Amino acid sequence: MKVAFAQGHPTPLGELTGNNPHETVSDKTVSTLLLHWILMKRHALLSLAIALLLQIPAGAGSGPPRYEHRTSADPHGTGKFYMGREISRVMGHQGASWLDRPEREVEEAPEVLLDALGTLRGMTIADIGAGSGYFSFRLARRAGPGGRVLAVDIQDEMLRIIRRRAAQKSIRNVEPILGTIQDPGLSPESVDLALLVDVYHEFSHPWEMIQGIHRALKPGGRLVLVEYRAEDPEVPILRLHKMTQDQVRREISVHPLVWVETLDLLPRQHIVIFRKPSR
Ligand SMILES: C[S@@+](CC[C@H](N)C(=O)[O-])C[C@H]1O[C@@H](n2cnc3c(N)ncnc32)[C@H](O)[C@@H]1O
Repeated sequence: MKVAFAQGHPTPLGELTGNNPHETVSDKTVSTLLLHWILMKRHALLSLAIALLLQIPAGAGSGPPRYEHRTSADPHGTGKFYMGREISRVMGHQGASWLDRPEREVEEAPEVLLDALGTLRGMTIADIGAGSGYFSFRLARRAGPGGRVLAVDIQDEMLRIIRRRAAQKSIRNVEPILGTIQDPGLSPESVDLALLVDVYHEFSHPWEMIQGIHRALKPGGRLVLVEYRAEDPEVPILRLHKMTQDQVRREISVHPLVWVETLDLLPRQHIVIFRKPSR
């Protein structure tokens, strides 16, 4: 088990008092501060011990690790870095037909991926970064009439494609949702499964997005990331559109989500599964 990215936010003593900085500090105040400090230390140690026991990293639930901006050497990069990884550009809706290319059946084995997720009947599933709905409609079939698929994307053009397809096929359990770059726009504790296929690496605000997804998951709900394998130079995908499984785990480990398993069943992608702890 790794306790990755512990992020303390050391509070300067001055802030602890919440007082005017020009105020003089009496001996009594000093002892009060000392007492606060000891209590805070105890609290931090206790949180760390609980995090270790639950396999949740210290710092989970606190502020985001920093984003850095550097000059990008990659034309597909944004120059924005998160935990050492350069965030890729978002795939524009002009590329929607690429998402529906028939070769995906062989290259990505979508039904093998969905089989690996077990029964989805009756579930509420969020397809985050749904694009043209390549997975949304497959998920809808598996969820059945008693389940529903929340197809979230930040590009309204993508959602229009999904709406048109749903109307053509008379599919009623796919609901397009226009999210923002920082918020999937889902109700708290409403989702059994959040599926992110080939999208996490292009979130401009990965910490905020996963925080929003975590909030939307029911206790015990799953987060599944599917990313092209960066460990494998044979996978013919642009560098910034691939991720190593270590990097995926490191980035998710700053949230209160527990890694369950990584499945390497697909020709080119990892399936990395996390769970929100049950209450
Ligand atoms: C490469 S496409 C993958 C689409 C789909 N998952 C698939 O496998 O066919 C990535 C999609 O993620 C969307 N996206 C990027 N950032 C997003 C965010 N913060 N929230 C929701 N969708 C986002 C993009 O608009 C794009 O449609």
